[in-house]
Amino acid sequence: MGQAWKRPFCGSLRPEHKGQRVELCGWVRRRRDLGGLVFVDLRDREGIVQVVFREELKAQAETLSPEDVVRVVGTVVARENPNPEIPTGLVEVVAEDLQILNRAATPPFVVEDRVKASEELRLRYRYLDLRRPEMMASLLLRHRITFEIRRYFHEMGFIEVETPILTRSTPEGARDFLVPSRLSPGKFYALPQSPQLFKQLLQVAGLGRYMQIARCFRDEDLRADRQPEFTQVDVEASFVTEEDIFSLIEGLFHRIFPLVGIEPPQRFPRLSFREAMEAYGSDRPDVRFDLRLHDFAELAAECDFLPLRQAATTGKVKGFVVPEGAAFSRKELDSIGEHARKLGLPGIVWMKKTADGVASSAKKGLGEAGVLRFLQAAACQEGDLLLLAGGPEKTVLTGLGQLRLWCARRLHLIPENEFAFCWVTDFPLLEWDDETKRFYACHHPFTSPKTEDVELLEIAPEKVRARAYDVVVNGLELGGGSIRIHDAQLQRRVFACLGISEEQAQQKFGFLLEAFRYGAPPHGGIALGLDRLVMLMAGRDSIRDVIAFPKTTAGNCLLTDAPNVVDDEQLAELHLRFVP
Ligand code: AMO
Repeated sequence: MGQAWKRPFCGSLRPEHKGQRVELCGWVRRRRDLGGLVFVDLRDREGIVQVVFREELKAQAETLSPEDVVRVVGTVVARENPNPEIPTGLVEVVAEDLQILNRAATPPFVVEDRVKASEELRLRYRYLDLRRPEMMASLLLRHRITFEIRRYFHEMGFIEVETPILTRSTPEGARDFLVPSRLSPGKFYALPQSPQLFKQLLQVAGLGRYMQIARCFRDEDLRADRQPEFTQVDVEASFVTEEDIFSLIEGLFHRIFPLVGIEPPQRFPRLSFREAMEAYGSDRPDVRFDLRLHDFAELAAECDFLPLRQAATTGKVKGFVVPEGAAFSRKELDSIGEHARKLGLPGIVWMKKTADGVASSAKKGLGEAGVLRFLQAAACQEGDLLLLAGGPEKTVLTGLGQLRLWCARRLHLIPENEFAFCWVTDFPLLEWDDETKRFYACHHPFTSPKTEDVELLEIAPEKVRARAYDVVVNGLELGGGSIRIHDAQLQRRVFACLGISEEQAQQKFGFLLEAFRYGAPPHGGIALGLDRLVMLMAGRDSIRDVIAFPKTTAGNCLLTDAPNVVDDEQLAELHLRFVP
């Protein structure tokens, strides 16, 4: 075996290595000159170890500065002043030879976990940023997770297949990234938003169980949990039901979450879309804390406060109890109201019990007794605060859902180190868009309607439920999937509901409809967002922290300065011209 592969990592030295002569290669993190000795903290991807230089090596070691690259040969000994803070802290290496392999310029920021540099600067010098132990640890964790994922699926009989990156548009609801074709003037490839159609075609091919750690591309507005290119753990299997997919993914999570000391529950709780919306105002509920929404329509319908009474007849009146929320000052209550308006809620009514009665923003309209009726219905204790909103169903549910999160964050009601897993099921198949006056697929157009709802497709499309499911952890949508349509006729009916004409269907998805004619097995699957999974497991707040070379929220790579201009010649070859 080559010499290089026998060399230990700096960060891997432990007391059992005492007495061994080792060769170490790494980066100087820090140098201290003390009492005739030079101490250097030497860093590599696994961590840091202290190296001591004496006598004839001292002078050379004194020239070392941070980020210089060196090779050291020395002997591992017990450290004179043990450092319990670091894993190598019980040992040090007494150097016998020092080779300076490369000098480093002064880095633009100190390469340490407590970094003060802005994210822009860190992204610009990402190779230095990745040297920081916490960033390197995220990369190492990501590797261990993907390794374990592949092993799990291999053991379960899944085959990894690579699908094309240059393909045609797959409708997952986002904009496509397009690649102009040189050989077919005026035509474009699209980068895949997901391998959706290929993984279905692999089922028609008879593969049975497919998985892929797949790169996906979506030109959409970016956030902390969204990147224009991201990675999915993509899964599809034939002859399966929802239950099979649930147990497959629960099994996967039992395998990987223990890597970070988390044991998921045996079975994940399930909520229908309806239940999730009614109780949490979100289809990706954070169930780590309560603050559940309750219905107050009945009380509101009979009350003397006109806005609530009207809302009860035309829409919804819902609310939730904020424990200890009575302590909010008037100013804070105003800021809740202001925040609620930003969330689209027409208004918010607050109520609480006080030592000498009740207080409420609607006390004038409702009267003392009216307020008390609401507080009693909500089982509100002294010290609690009841927040109510009325209005159109969707506005009230999603608005209160976000307000619930906002209050929980403000009051620190979210248990930090807890993980709450759940399945959300029974999504609607279609969603009406008021602006474009048409239905869109909630998941994607290849999701099967529930068998018992198929007959509603043409009569009441909005009532049709899908065989779709999401896996949600701590309010984050980690993955989504469905049982698919495998019948050309049903696929055509769903296309028709989406306003896709027979002609358009043929033009865009003719290959799929054709494949369905040649023995398509029933099939279904799921895709997990790998970046989100690693972010969650690494305890980070942004997927940028677990992606080696991410883009900014404006979609730029600050390191390579992409996207960038190309010269006219390159454009001409592609039959393109830039029109400013
Ligand atoms: P979906 O669109 O729900 O389903 O995507 C699956 C999962 O991918 C992750 N994800 C993202 N992660 C980072 N950045 C993004 N821009 C981004 N977009 C999505 C999320 C999401 O839950 N083909 C279907 C899957 C299927 O039906 O099997 C699909 O792509 O974690």
